[in-house]
Amino acid sequence: MTQKLRIGVLISGRGTNLQAIIDACEEGKIAGKVIFVGSDNPQAEGLNRARRHKIATFSVNYASIIKEIKENPESANFPPDVNLDELLIRQSLISAKADTERIMFFLRSRVIAEAKLLEKMKPYPFDLLVLAGFMRNLTPYFIDRVNTAPGSPRIMNIHPALLPAFPGVDGYGDTYRYGCKVGGCTVHFIDYGEDTGPIIGQKAFQISEDDTLETVKKKGLELEWTIYPECINLFAQGRLKIARKTYALANSKKVTRTVVEILKSS
Ligand code: GAR
Repeated sequence: MTQKLRIGVLISGRGTNLQAIIDACEEGKIAGKVIFVGSDNPQAEGLNRARRHKIATFSVNYASIIKEIKENPESANFPPDVNLDELLIRQSLISAKADTERIMFFLRSRVIAEAKLLEKMKPYPFDLLVLAGFMRNLTPYFIDRVNTAPGSPRIMNIHPALLPAFPGVDGYGDTYRYGCKVGGCTVHFIDYGEDTGPIIGQKAFQISEDDTLETVKKKGLELEWTIYPECINLFAQGRLKIARKTYALANSKKVTRTVVEILKSS
């Protein structure tokens, strides 16, 4: 890619990963530029970091949207471009066994918020959407509207654990409490599941008897600040290739996985 990669970032909080990405762009470590920073939380500290670098910001207040729909469910309709049957088939964030009301409330509230998010993103055409501590699951409604080219995902996430271990909202906490001797972080593409998408990069650190949850978080975060820019730059260089791989298992069954291959630099 000769032109600079146009990067959109979504955050929920303090934005230290965002800062690392902005700095890496400015230092030429990523052949790209952050063109917007959006948040589900209007108070996110990271929005100020973006403003300091003169990057466009916006927010969609998920908490107030969810609260409003809870209090007044009749008033909330899916956006007109939703295909509900397809959404129900594709979504895997809530078990299909959960009660219908719960599934519908989750999908309706998230899709309404996501439609607003997409609207706010519209003025800023981007090549890659980076989730940097964005603490909301994205539904297939949003994902399909960003990933328009089949086989070329373009939403990246960083997760504070060595996936597929410890998906969810507290990766370092789960790692520490489990008594793991190694912790780490993972950069992956988003798919329809929670933290299940194909893995791009991982870094690990040792956990010793002297470590506390705080030191584990600190060690992990420092690795995040290096691995996320590295993975984004691989994307900018066109070196991430999605591949479907089928493996024969000992029990004569087969397993097929979608993985990321990292191409050699040319
Ligand atoms: C990071 O540790 C990131 O891995 C995690 O949130 C933190 C954000 O920190 N993300 C998730 O847990 C996503 N499920 P930051 O706002 O300082 O970049």
